[in-house]
Amino acid sequence: MHQPQDSEALDALVKRLPKCELHIHIEGSLEPELMFTLAQRNGVKLPYDSVEALRRAYQFTKLQDFLDIYYQGMSVLITEQDFYDLAWAYLLRAKADNVRHVEMFFDPQGHTSRGVAFGTVVDGLTRAISEARRELGVDAHLIMCFLRHLDEGDAHKTLDEALPHRDKIIGVGLDSSEVGHPPSKFQHVFRRARDAGLFPVAHAGEEGPPQYVWEALDLLGVGRVDHGNRSLEDDSLVARLARERMALTVCPLSNLRLRVVQDLTQHPLRRMMDKGLMVTINSDDPAYFGGYVNQNFNAVGGALKLTREEIVAIVRNSFTASLLPQAAKDAAQAEIDRVLAEQT
Ligand code: HPA
Ligand code: ZN
Repeated sequence: MHQPQDSEALDALVKRLPKCELHIHIEGSLEPELMFTLAQRNGVKLPYDSVEALRRAYQFTKLQDFLDIYYQGMSVLITEQDFYDLAWAYLLRAKADNVRHVEMFFDPQGHTSRGVAFGTVVDGLTRAISEARRELGVDAHLIMCFLRHLDEGDAHKTLDEALPHRDKIIGVGLDSSEVGHPPSKFQHVFRRARDAGLFPVAHAGEEGPPQYVWEALDLLGVGRVDHGNRSLEDDSLVARLARERMALTVCPLSNLRLRVVQDLTQHPLRRMMDKGLMVTINSDDPAYFGGYVNQNFNAVGGALKLTREEIVAIVRNSFTASLLPQAAKDAAQAEIDRVLAEQT
């Protein structure tokens, strides 16, 4: 019962369990094939002559290496249809992984800075989300992230642009280059976002120090911490995260590909669980890091020899930490119970 899963059993269990994904950048789900299709459709020149050449460029030694390629990749996204196609492709993948609920990040400043209107981005993403709800049974919501390498004034302007679309956005986040751009830089715009009823989250402790996680909690008032790996360096922070049952949205393959960890057997997920932290497993930027959410479960579950009970606990956390209404959370937990009862 408490044995680690062999890889086939792990794979089958992960596939059968309904899940939430809480840390996915929709622009990071842009697969090379779609990138080339959109480049051609929009007459955008990419500095690679093939899908293979592009994939070969996906060699990162740190977050910034990835971000440079990620911003270049999103330059092919121009029309409302492009944003629809991007989100629809991801939502089909989510359905295939038995993901039922998604809280999806997008980076409006990555688009408005290139002259794409905020409304074009949100309308395309929202159209795909509405169709997925109807046709795929996948429920998705948008969290708008501020790019932390830009100044707070730019974030305020972005929030101004978002407010007319308030009904299509559930939260705000903070992403991009972490070190040197602490959460404190964005405390005023987060206050405005919270006052508008938007749920606050932030990337913290991916490359940045534990201090950034404290700031995300105390100055931004976040309801979840994205990544949070480096929290483990600070015992009093760990105690606080555990006491408050603060969710961490952990992204194992991202951590591996960005060298936040050297090897998945060294991944902090095991230590986080041992310390009673509320962890979830997510894909971050699946087109760039080599796997969607189930592949993240399988890779880290195998490397850390997670038991069936541990996998199930992480999946249950994804619902607990989501913004679903309580009745939907209860229904999901009951469905997990049924799946487990059926499994031999
Ligand atoms: N970290 C910070 N910013 C990001 C990431 C990430 O993993 N993915 C997309 N933007
Ligand atoms: Zn991320």
